[in-house]
Amino acid sequence: MRKKIVAGNWKMNKTFEESKALMNELKEKLGKETSEKVETVVCPPFLCVPSANEIFQGTNIRFGGQNIHFKDDGAYTGEISASMLKAIGCDYVILGHSERRQYFHETNHLINFKVLKALEKGLKPILCVGETLEQREQGVEKKIVDEQVTLCLKDVCAADMENVVIAYEPVWAIGTGKTATPEQAEEMHVGIRKSLENLYNATVAGRTRILYGGSMNDKNAKDLLGKNNIDGGLIGGAALKADSFIAIIEAAV
Ligand code: PGA
Repeated sequence: MRKKIVAGNWKMNKTFEESKALMNELKEKLGKETSEKVETVVCPPFLCVPSANEIFQGTNIRFGGQNIHFKDDGAYTGEISASMLKAIGCDYVILGHSERRQYFHETNHLINFKVLKALEKGLKPILCVGETLEQREQGVEKKIVDEQVTLCLKDVCAADMENVVIAYEPVWAIGTGKTATPEQAEEMHVGIRKSLENLYNATVAGRTRILYGGSMNDKNAKDLLGKNNIDGGLIGGAALKADSFIAIIEAAV
């Protein structure tokens, strides 16, 4: 049985004080039983990660970063290392998000280095993959996603796959209000599991958690999460309000 995960990707939103307020509200409102059943992860901006470490102490809420550099440390102005996130209590890091691919020119090759570094330092990558609208219209979405999975997981051994979470996020659904239908998402998740089976084996494919991301909200979560191969969600916009984020977590129970 794969335990479901609902992860909030706050992106570049919330000041320090706003972050603390939202974290405290989540802590107060999220039922203990729910957070025991569904792994809940919050990924705020770096600046607010230490607050997550304080506020979520003693709760089941886990937290993480939204990116890392692929080197241990050194002269990389403006960057954050895996060790830094680990030292402040992070369990997770989002890697290869389409916004980083699009605006910061991250390639599968670079993301692969980051995945390997995260694992080496004890962080669990939430590896994002997904096709653009153009690629879907050309009918190459499965090929693109298979390529992303294969290249981003290069040299990741089967044992380490226990700590990898994959998020399927069709680019055309992110922040657009256009959600993939549960059937479309399920089909892609099945394809990702097939890729994992080809790369590793049926056990790894069956054990890896694959999240859906792209305009998931409290209204559509239940149907998406009801599909056999959808093991949770990576939530952007709807994670910025405690009530809608909690409603999604409850839909995953
Ligand atoms: P969205 O973002 O829920 O706002 O579409 C999801 C994501 O980019 O992770």
